[in-house]
Parts: sequence; C-alpha cells; structure tokens
Amino acid sequence: MQIVVINSQKGGSGKTMLAKHLAVEAERAGDGPVFLIDTDPQGSLTAWHTKRQSEIPQRVEIPFEGLQKGLDLLRGHGAAYCIIDTASGRIDIAKNLFKLADFVIFPVQASEDDLTAAPVTVQSLKEIGVPFVFVLTRVKANTLITAQAAAVLSKHGEVAETFVNDRTAYKAPYAQGQTITEAEPKGPAAKEIAALWKNIKSCLHENMQKGSEVVAHG
Ligand SMILES: Nc1ncnc2c1ncn2[C@@H]1O[C@H](COP(=O)(O)OP(=O)(O)OP(=O)(O)O)[C@@H](O)[C@H]1O
Ligand SMILES: [Mg+2]
Repeated sequence: MQIVVINSQKGGSGKTMLAKHLAVEAERAGDGPVFLIDTDPQGSLTAWHTKRQSEIPQRVEIPFEGLQKGLDLLRGHGAAYCIIDTASGRIDIAKNLFKLADFVIFPVQASEDDLTAAPVTVQSLKEIGVPFVFVLTRVKANTLITAQAAAVLSKHGEVAETFVNDRTAYKAPYAQGQTITEAEPKGPAAKEIAALWKNIKSCLHENMQKGSEVVAHG
C-alpha cells in the first residue's frame, strides 16, 4: 500500500479537491482499492464523502494517535492506496504525517503568496526525506505567472507535468456526491485528472525503484 499525503501550508491551494478527484480517478483507472483519510478538522473531504452514494473510494476515520496502527490494518485489508487530506497552517502535524507517507503531493497555486509559503513545507519534506511532487493548481491557461511558478518550483523539486486548470466545474456539486470527472467522464476535467494521476503514478514508481536500489546497494 502506498500512503499518499496531500499537504501545503497555504489554505485553499486545492488539497481536498485533489484528494477526492485523484481517489475517484485511481479507482476508475483500476488502481484501487483506495482509502481516504481526512485529517483536517474542517472536514471538507468528509462532508463530500458523506454525500456520495458510491461505495468507492472508501473513507476511514482513524484518530491521529492511532494512525500508524490504522494504516497497518488498511494494508492488511489489501488497500492499494491510502490518500490523506490534511489541514493547512499546521506544519507540526504535517511533519508527523510526512513521516508516515510514501509520497507527498504538494499543491501550489501560481501566486506570490503560495510561492512564499512553499519553502517551509519543502524544508520539512527534505529534512524527513520523503519524495514529493508539486502540482500547480487553479491555473489560468497560458499565463506567464504559471510558467514562472513552474520554473521557481522546479528548483526545489519535481513539478507534475499536468497542471490543474481553474474550472468552475470543480467547484460545483453533482448528483449523488459525484465528482465532475464522474459526471462528465469525457470532459476536459476528466482528461486532466486522468493525466495527473498517471504523472503521480510514474513519480511513485520512480521513487519506489530508487528506494529498492538503495536497499539493494546497502
Ligand atoms: N482547479 C480548480 N478550479 C476551480 N476551483 C477549484 C480548483 N481547485 C480547488 N478549487 C476550489 O477552491 C476552493 C479551495 O480548494 P480546496 O478546498 O481543495 O483547497 P484546500 O487546500 O483543501 O483548502 P484548505 O487549506 O482550506 O483545506 C474550493 O472551493 C474548491 O472547490
Ligand atoms: Mg481542504
């Protein structure tokens, strides 16, 4: 089981949006079972999940103190991925989650504020040594600021090739708690999220290979 934590210290960068869309996409792509954990007291992911009729992806409630044990149980139940949504502004808690993670997704908007906030998280990720990828979110197509943000971020780590565009469709509610990617499976949002999930899987596999090479070579 791969434990994927989604974190940025900046609020509103798209953590919860990515948690739900990537979990749904991973199941659609046949990469499940995927389990979601909402560690944000704000509970946005939980609120969305409660509205869903579909049984997948599943969501589990595990108290923070019992997280390690709970993750072991999920592993024992055959989970392929556990995607953990996190709160912004709590680097102390985020650091504990980074220690449990196999991989971290770091959503960043192409904005001065997001870029200024990024180094605190990057430093923690590097200290702990967990692999991560930046995902540019809420992007306005063909803007200079997006290219500049990608260039700045790439000095600190890998940037996912797929950028998530700013789309009203991501904000709207859909019947039975669906995501836009389920409601319009052939639409541009579905294509974008499918491409992003592929990017993330290849980053994960690359890092798994690096990890096994390190073990093999002592
Ligand atoms: N690509 C996008 N296009 C349009 N709206 C988006 C996009 N991504 C997220 N949003 C919207 O922006 C708002 C913030 O997104 P989200 O809740 O995912 O951020 P967050 O990082 O989880 O925030 P918080 O730090 O408060 O938990 C939400 O209303 C969400 O629907
Ligand atoms: Mg959130």
